[in-house]
Amino acid sequence: TPDYKLVPHRQFYLISGVHSPEQVDQIQNWEIRDSDIFIITYPKSGTIWMQQILSLIEARGNVMATKDQLTSERIPWIELIGSEKEFISAPSPRLRVSHLQYKFVPLGLKQKKGKVIYVARNPKDVLVSYYHFHKFAEMLETPKDFNDFFGKFMEGKVYGNCWFEHVKTWYSHKDDMNFLYITYEDMIKDLRSVVEQISLFLGKHLTEQELANVVEHSTFHNMKHNPQANYQMVSDTLLNHQKGTFMRKGTVGDWKNHFTVSQNEKFDRVYQEKMKDLPLTFVWD
Ligand code: PPS
Repeated sequence: TPDYKLVPHRQFYLISGVHSPEQVDQIQNWEIRDSDIFIITYPKSGTIWMQQILSLIEARGNVMATKDQLTSERIPWIELIGSEKEFISAPSPRLRVSHLQYKFVPLGLKQKKGKVIYVARNPKDVLVSYYHFHKFAEMLETPKDFNDFFGKFMEGKVYGNCWFEHVKTWYSHKDDMNFLYITYEDMIKDLRSVVEQISLFLGKHLTEQELANVVEHSTFHNMKHNPQANYQMVSDTLLNHQKGTFMRKGTVGDWKNHFTVSQNEKFDRVYQEKMKDLPLTFVWD
């Protein structure tokens, strides 16, 4: 197995063997088409969920049209080694996903070409989900314990770096792009409204039945039992399926089962300081 490690590049960690700095630096220059759609997330914020929703909206709710390919392949990662060649020649619409920070974005997006769907999740639940992911993702270092991971997350010493920076920089540039901001908690509360909102943003008018199909195939239960939508098919050298599962809990507020009182106080202090200029609020439970 390759020797994966976090390697700093322009103040952002990349994973060696998964990403290459040269390729990531090229992304800015990629030519963007009006029909391109990018899902942008900090890790563990609902990425695969949005990949599933978006690819079903594109297929007008027809799950049969999406059944021959993994969700993660229908909407590939732009930062993976080798993605550039495929991106240039792919037919429209190109649906892509990324965890990259704002500074790496294709410049075309800032000329209002293409569209960006940014999914954010309350960062306490992100931290918990990411902690569990580190225990079975072979490309990430297994944390000693929860407190060890808590420290790394707060320092931004994880893939995706600092959660606060990620949300702040993307959100504060929203008016420069065709940008839709969605939260994981909105999706939990009312999936159907979110699907409608995305369809509207994409100018894709779905019938009632098509809408209902998208929603049905995007529920936690259905995705957990759909091997294409839940990373079950990914090899054990990347995700050790004996040690954990990608579709873990899918709830709001699991942080309460993990955070100590003092971790929570520390988190709240940092949150208030870092988020004070942003008009964003999250649902915490
Ligand atoms: S990754 O590795 O960054 O791409 O992970 P990501 O897909 O962003 O996040 C994984 C978490 O999203 C939850 N998930 C869902 N929750 C509710 N409904 C649906 N349909 C759904 N699909 C994925 C998944 O369970 C992970 O959260 P946790 O809290 O660990 O369960």
